[in-house]
Amino acid sequence: MPVNLKGRSLLTLKDFTPDEIRYLLNLAADLKAKKRSGVRGDLLAGKNIVLLFEKTSTRTRCAFEVAAYDEGANVTFLSNSQMGKKESLEDTAKVLGRFYDGIEFRGFKQETVELLAKHAGVPVWNGLTDLYHPTQVLADCLTIMENIAKPLNKVKLVYVGDARNNMGNSLMIISAKLGMHFVGIAPKALFPEEGLVNEMRELAKVTGAKIEFSEDIAAVDGADAIYTDVWVSVGEEAQFEERIKLLTPYRVTMDMMKATHNPDCIFLHCLPSFHDLETSVGREIYEKYGVAEQEVTDEVFRCPQSKVFDEAENRMHTIKAVMVATAGR
Ligand code: CP
Ligand code: NVA
Repeated sequence: MPVNLKGRSLLTLKDFTPDEIRYLLNLAADLKAKKRSGVRGDLLAGKNIVLLFEKTSTRTRCAFEVAAYDEGANVTFLSNSQMGKKESLEDTAKVLGRFYDGIEFRGFKQETVELLAKHAGVPVWNGLTDLYHPTQVLADCLTIMENIAKPLNKVKLVYVGDARNNMGNSLMIISAKLGMHFVGIAPKALFPEEGLVNEMRELAKVTGAKIEFSEDIAAVDGADAIYTDVWVSVGEEAQFEERIKLLTPYRVTMDMMKATHNPDCIFLHCLPSFHDLETSVGREIYEKYGVAEQEVTDEVFRCPQSKVFDEAENRMHTIKAVMVATAGR
């Protein structure tokens, strides 16, 4: 059956079939090639998009804006709306649905993006919640497809760090969908919620994926990609001290890269990253706890196997694919 995503929201990739996800990835690759060849598009011409942000962002906001402009849409950035303060989510969704052809939401609760989708009557896209970051993992898979000379169902993706955050959850989900071998390496306290793991393991039986967890960093052996994220996600800042204790042994170092025994293993990170002291938050943590490099060393971050800026660019191409497929002409 041909894939048709018109009118669909992207709240979590759990709601998408493997074919639908592959369709989005292939469309993103096509749109990337089109942009590289200098062709301007009109696939979103006449469309109006609103970007709702409760949390800060560089990549996600800019990716949505540039992707929209590239294909002819107009964008409103809204970070100080009445939503939830003086106006209910339901009423806000109904109002925005009258004005706009698509709504992006970044914020805390997954229920917020779900309620928006329930009431807006137009596609709603999750630009990150505490639980999931679906547009990020589409970019990650496109980067893997571009940099690893294997089909996705032969790829071993190892995620090291806070395996129960939005990135850990979303990478596990897309791996299960696309038949990848996913290994989460973390202290047990940071393993993801058991219900989600069981659900993804059930799915893995159908797709051929493998979903594993380990506390032992030796489990990086044979990895095609090592992925990490910040130790403390937005909204969890009070947990810095505890996380430093838990996650210091899991920092991605050159020794960890070598322990893959795969010289072609790439390094991925959704960014932003605390790999040096060039940020005010990074310096604060250094002054308080003496930790200069957090989840990844500067050496790994800057090494040739690091594809983090390809990955950042791919946010734009994949988000463009999501908007074109769900709200395009
Ligand atoms: N990776 C990511 O979502 O980046 P931003 O927080 O800058 O949007
Ligand atoms: N886990 C991080 C991802 C940032 C893109 C956070 O939620 O802050």
